[in-house]
Amino acid sequence: MTRLVPGLALLLTLLQPALGQAPEPPANYDEAKVGTFTLPDPLVSKAGKRITTPADWQKRRTELLQLFADNVYGQTPAQAVKLRFQVSNVDQAALNGLATRKQISIFFTDYPQLPPIDVLLYIPKSAQKPAPVFLGLNFCGNHCVTTEADIPLSTRWVSNVIGNVSVNNRATEKARGLQATRWPIETVLKRGYALATAYYGDIEPDYPQGWHTGIRSVLGDTTKASNWGAIGAWAWGLSRIMDYLQTDPAIDSKRVMVMGHSRIGKASLWAGAQDTRFAAVISNESGEGGAALARRWYGETLERISTHFPHWFCPRYTTYSKRVAELPVDQHELLALIAPRPLYIASADGDQWSDPRGEFLSGVEAEGVYRLYGKTGLGPVRFPGLNEPVGQTVRYHNRSGKHDVTDYDWAQYLRFADELVR
Ligand code: GCU
Repeated sequence: MTRLVPGLALLLTLLQPALGQAPEPPANYDEAKVGTFTLPDPLVSKAGKRITTPADWQKRRTELLQLFADNVYGQTPAQAVKLRFQVSNVDQAALNGLATRKQISIFFTDYPQLPPIDVLLYIPKSAQKPAPVFLGLNFCGNHCVTTEADIPLSTRWVSNVIGNVSVNNRATEKARGLQATRWPIETVLKRGYALATAYYGDIEPDYPQGWHTGIRSVLGDTTKASNWGAIGAWAWGLSRIMDYLQTDPAIDSKRVMVMGHSRIGKASLWAGAQDTRFAAVISNESGEGGAALARRWYGETLERISTHFPHWFCPRYTTYSKRVAELPVDQHELLALIAPRPLYIASADGDQWSDPRGEFLSGVEAEGVYRLYGKTGLGPVRFPGLNEPVGQTVRYHNRSGKHDVTDYDWAQYLRFADELVR
């Protein structure tokens, strides 16, 4: 996603009083000013009991999931939704014979007014057995992840801002392959992995009123302070794609790795925390409301994100904007909810907005829960240098360069998958 250029951000800040808004506090990028804070302990229950066994952790896990639902992402509706999977297109020789490519639409039987989630799935032709798969939502439609001419343009609302190629929030041919560099499909296939993706806007278009045409228009309770937000909806959608993957004999559904960048990284972490069918989770620069510790005053803050993107979270989240210390959870506990499964946290040095150090420290603070399972998470590591992956079951790197998903990131994810998931 594009970010506000500093000049424009400054102009908006200066205009705020004229617009009748309180000026936003400036973002802090000075480590010396981060201040001190006390993190809630994932290994102490609400009743004050110390958690020392995996069995006790399972109870604490339920408690923590509820705290995240009540205070951050909102309650994911528990009811089962009837799905119909329609395989609309299969190409047995896609990408010059490298893959079987399927397009599957996930329809919601009881809610015919909702559009389907359109899944694009590549399975390596070389696979001798069901293939492990990377699953990730994309930002601008399946036609953006590939230059293949026969992937239909998404007909849903799309952002006009991404690449400046949409007209009136509708995709145009210019968007084809727009984010293909973030999806090295052929490299992934050659390493023996399948790749599944769908447009996050199929689940809920990403603007404040977008929920009216998404899953939240039929599920949830808009009167509650813990009603789910868009991140919750996207996470739910990832689980519905998992429902499909479990029915596809070409896929090893015990080895589905959910991966996401930025706001979709936040959704991927929440999906992985709630749905233990995901074998591993990869957070690419998920930042505030994702992997980064909320209590650190650095880069984007809770106040800032809940002001600019309130629709991503539950209504109660905003009430913490000026009292983050009172938030009953912090994001290291979200990471701990992934344990003992493998977790990759990736930052980029040119993306200080996401607080690389805060993402790293969050991983460090999840260590105790991995230890309960006899696993080493990040282990005893210091904040690493640039492009220096560290850790064991939990891994971390701080890539040089900007907010993006690059070949470097994927090279690490593939190695992580080879070592820990395969
Ligand atoms: C904005 C937002 C971030 C988010 C990012 C993205 O920069 O402040 O929280 O991660 O958009 O999704 O690209």
